[in-house]
Amino acid sequence: MKLTLRRPDDWHLHLRDGDMLAAVLPHTAARFARAIVMPNLAPPVTTTAAALAYRERILAALPAGSDFEPLMTLYLTDNTLAEEIHRAAASGAVFGVKLYPAGATTNSDSGVTHLRHCDAVLAAMEEAGMVLQVHGEVTAPGIDVFDRERVFIERVLAPAVERFPQLKVVFEHVTTADAVEFVRGARDGIAATVTPQHMLLNRNALFAGGLRPHHYCLPVLKAERHREAVLAAATSGSARFFLGTDSAPHTRGSKESSCGCAGIYSAPVGIEIYAEAFEQAGALDRLEAFASEHGARFYGLPLNDTTITLERRDWMPPAEYAAGADTLVPFRAGETVRWQLVAA
Ligand code: NCD
Ligand code: ZN
Repeated sequence: MKLTLRRPDDWHLHLRDGDMLAAVLPHTAARFARAIVMPNLAPPVTTTAAALAYRERILAALPAGSDFEPLMTLYLTDNTLAEEIHRAAASGAVFGVKLYPAGATTNSDSGVTHLRHCDAVLAAMEEAGMVLQVHGEVTAPGIDVFDRERVFIERVLAPAVERFPQLKVVFEHVTTADAVEFVRGARDGIAATVTPQHMLLNRNALFAGGLRPHHYCLPVLKAERHREAVLAAATSGSARFFLGTDSAPHTRGSKESSCGCAGIYSAPVGIEIYAEAFEQAGALDRLEAFASEHGARFYGLPLNDTTITLERRDWMPPAEYAAGADTLVPFRAGETVRWQLVAA
């Protein structure tokens, strides 16, 4: 069986830089027409000038003939100025500003300590129609890691959405029934991205027969009832939910470590694995809207006019890919993936 789709976009992606960028970009560019590129480099991409320079490095790393388009973002800090938002909007190359609560995840040390510090910036974004992309977890040490998303909604997100009633917000990588319910019931201009791992895996996958560092990401995998809620939302046909892989490569050594990095490298199976999730849910007919339409409409961008084709054929991603002198272990390494991308 074959499935031809309007070419999809990835609305949440980590491409990194240097050798890592060169290693991971071809996998995304083979599948997706565009991607929202996360700004959590070290140092973070906090200015339009830095975003434009990063964009050039991405374009230079593309395989010959690829017309993949990186959609850049800025990294919000307590010190971001409203003028930076005006510059970003005027550049035509920056499509959002990412809120990382300080300390929430990889390279988030420069993140926001209190969102109230950013009110002038949020007002400028509201005015410019610039999307706020949110890593929705509180970082207070007293909050259980599995409750961080729910508490973030109460303490930070719901009040911010009220304070800025026109601000467009993407609640990134939703992982809980609470987040799904919030997005479903929110005012216009609120949407969410959904990763493949949060559709396919629950937290048992972290401990299956031993500690599984390659299933560790943030927000961390949740209990089965949350997975079911996320899967149901993504496959519901609601235009508020769209594809964002959150493919987040880290070297094998930094994953398989006494303090392993968070992030699942899913780009090599970036659309195939969603087809699997939608097939399991009996919703393959809704994959195209989720992968190729809802996100573009939310961001106010044209739909892609080319296609990709997937075939229902088992294959196995390799145990690892090279990245400079290091290696990267992909999602489903050495395991069966049920759909395969047919070469264009
Ligand atoms: C991401 C990374 O490694 O940059 N990690 C992850 O587990 N998703 C950061 C993030 O999106 O939280
Ligand atoms: Zn991410």
